[in-house]
Amino acid sequence: MRQFQTRQWNILLPVALISALISCGKTQTPVVPANSSMELKNPGEPTSATDPVEIERPSVGAVKPGQASSNPIPSQEPDPAEVVEPGSSDTEKAPVSLLLSDPEFERRAKLGHLVAKRRCILCHKVDGRGAILQPPLIQVSVRRLERMKVISEHLDQLQADDPDRYQARVDLFNSIEAEPDLLRKMSIWLHGYLKQPTFDNPQAKMPLQVLKPEEIDQLASYVIQLAVEGVKQGVPTPE
Ligand code: HEC
Repeated sequence: MRQFQTRQWNILLPVALISALISCGKTQTPVVPANSSMELKNPGEPTSATDPVEIERPSVGAVKPGQASSNPIPSQEPDPAEVVEPGSSDTEKAPVSLLLSDPEFERRAKLGHLVAKRRCILCHKVDGRGAILQPPLIQVSVRRLERMKVISEHLDQLQADDPDRYQARVDLFNSIEAEPDLLRKMSIWLHGYLKQPTFDNPQAKMPLQVLKPEEIDQLASYVIQLAVEGVKQGVPTPE
């Protein structure tokens, strides 16, 4: 987390400078766009956690990789300089979610890291250590985050192809669909997966892992944290 914050400040400073320049040139320009883009960059700051709508809204759209400007907050006066500049960093592709600034989430992720080092390295590398039977945990985590963006299509397909499997978990699938925050969506999905890897996909290859409910909570947080970290680091996703 500390590392991200340092990176965020690296980005924030130029953004603040550009915003200052812009508002000097145009006396009528409201400061709202500059503030909202800063709010986006800084989900960990307590002040940014005051308006959940402002923060959660971009979390769905802000993660499209390869998009130069993924900031969906409507700017009253669109200014290319302001939109393009922050988009040039990898950090911009990472989802923004209140979840990441929740101390409980942090705490669970830490515990999940310990569980993963015991339980997952039989197949996935964790911190560069473990078996190479399967892709490293960070890679499958980033790929899962990607897949969460098209989960609705996947669930529609499942409902059509395998209605029994769909019906067996319909409440879980409905809550995945209803959750607007991408990372919280992923958390619900991971709870289903870690309980039963084939819950939404009969082809899933991962053998059932016998885990306690609290270990599942902790691992879900850790996998989400890894995914966000992986996106920021530009970690490649496996096939
Ligand atoms: C016995 C081997 C094995 C162990 C142990 C194992 N996995 Fe996996 N895991 C797999 C296989 C196989 C896949 C599928 C690989 C693929 O899709 O590329 C997989 C895929 C995954 C995925 C991606 C699923 C998706 O569809 O997005 C996640 C997340 C994951 N594992 C988490 C874990 C966690 C957390 C642990 C530790 C509790 C763990 N795995 C332990 C074999 C294992």
